[in-house]
Amino acid sequence: MTNAHADWWKQAVVYQVYPRSFYDANGDGLGDIAGVTAKIDYLAALGVDAIWLSPFYPSPLIDGGYDVADYRDVDPRLGTLEDFDKMAAAAHAAGMKVIVDIVPNHTSTEHEWFRAALAAGPGSPERDRYIFRPGRGEHGELPPNGWKSTFGGPAWEPVGDGEWYLHLFAVEQADLNWKNPEVHEDFKTTLRFWSDRGADGFRIDVAHALAKDIDSRPLEDWPDDPGQSCLAQSGSDDENPLWDRPEVHDIYREWRQVFNEYEPARFAVGEAWVAPEHQWMYASTDELGQVFNFEFAKKNWFAADFRLAIEEGLDAAERSKSTTTWVLSNHDVPRHATRFALPQVPSSTHHQIATDWLLRDGTTYYEDREAGTRRSRAALLMELGLPGSVYLYQGEELGLFEVADIPWGALEDPQAQMTAHGDAIKGRDGCRVPLPWTSLDATGDFGFSGPADHAAPHLPQPAWFAQFAVDVEEGDEASMLSFYRAALALRRALIVPTGDTSLAWDEANAGDVVAYQRPLADGRTLVSMTNFGATPVALPAGEVLIASAELVDGKLPQDASAWIACA
Ligand code: NOJ
Repeated sequence: MTNAHADWWKQAVVYQVYPRSFYDANGDGLGDIAGVTAKIDYLAALGVDAIWLSPFYPSPLIDGGYDVADYRDVDPRLGTLEDFDKMAAAAHAAGMKVIVDIVPNHTSTEHEWFRAALAAGPGSPERDRYIFRPGRGEHGELPPNGWKSTFGGPAWEPVGDGEWYLHLFAVEQADLNWKNPEVHEDFKTTLRFWSDRGADGFRIDVAHALAKDIDSRPLEDWPDDPGQSCLAQSGSDDENPLWDRPEVHDIYREWRQVFNEYEPARFAVGEAWVAPEHQWMYASTDELGQVFNFEFAKKNWFAADFRLAIEEGLDAAERSKSTTTWVLSNHDVPRHATRFALPQVPSSTHHQIATDWLLRDGTTYYEDREAGTRRSRAALLMELGLPGSVYLYQGEELGLFEVADIPWGALEDPQAQMTAHGDAIKGRDGCRVPLPWTSLDATGDFGFSGPADHAAPHLPQPAWFAQFAVDVEEGDEASMLSFYRAALALRRALIVPTGDTSLAWDEANAGDVVAYQRPLADGRTLVSMTNFGATPVALPAGEVLIASAELVDGKLPQDASAWIACA
């Protein structure tokens, strides 16, 4: 194996499949593994290097599968292990790698370990795999302390015998005790299980939460909110009992030994919503190798914000001696076509506008879809020209917007379930609506299910999905899908083969413009320019490889990007 092969992930374009909502091959209204296999040709034609599948394991699906009941099997509603093997073989045959999701912070309360913990009672080795503590009050009727779960409500749940267990997420997601050696061994078994079955890499869920220090002081002495919301970002110091603790890195150094048992070594990317200056540790080569940089997913449409995000990402990459990642959307944030279509406020609390807009079913602010589309196209070129990996989220290649008006009764996200109607947040279902494959809605699901006779999609699709269906966009050169394919093909042919991850800022138009230079495989230099400002900007002399919008008198208009190959 060559080094180049072992390093396939360093500048890969990874496509995130949210399996329940990708394609439903068996007609039960839930996407499945066979549905991914059926669409491998579509993904290969798109031009991605790898697919990452969000959890498809047996699960009560309280949190979209991030509540795992068995880490080494496939949920019967989504298929079988043989279906996984076929899918992995098809992906590999088409030249794509396969990344699976590991959820090590918590198990479903349906996991056999949790059931055993309940049955075995206080003080048992079974309970020690989780974080059980006695309640306060005469009969343990009060929670051990005031910590809140990320999804709302208390982070402790009583089990009826005076003990309570910790759940940083939903009640049905019990936090594991990473001080217990059995937990370590079991996850290493899981990593080997999927590696042996053809997984090329792993995405690690809430990678910054595993190590907890909750006993170094009496539980009630911890503040109720030790900055624990993963979206709020932890204080990133070792005073925080729950998030981003220094000991978490020991776990990943241990996992690195497992990854390196394979040839090429298995790859991992951590989901760690930590301060940018703390990201690099997770990404270092003796740990996971890569970590998500979510700064793009938080920024509003301002040149200075994106420039800062790029600088921070490159800085983290340099410190970790790895590459960084660029993410505009995933299954946890409102779709970026909508974020860029809503009012843009510099340095706003990220997602607040979209969250408010969702709460009122999309009625509080005007969603300027033309602006959203323009900016999404511009953002794609800005992103794809950068050194590092790019993570795409299913449906963004179609230019899908967030679905704002899912009826409250149809919502599945526990974030929404935790809140009373109207007073909190609507959650993440608006970006998880089943994809439209055909514009014809003859059987009521835009081709989401293969069989003609099928159940309704698990989340309702809006009528406007018809314009964004794959069959419509495939036939339209001006569509988002055609634009993604063209840009991905250029990146693959001209940018990545150099193996060079350097970037030089082009300061000529700083201000409203984000412009940078990269070496191209044919010896020329790429200039990527994005114009955020109202005044059209002159392009440097060279060949325009691709532009996200038509040039105006040869100049780059507002909300547009271009790639120019200069001699
Ligand atoms: C992060 C996942 O991306 C999200 O979807 C999930 O709800 C939490 N982790 C808890 O597992």
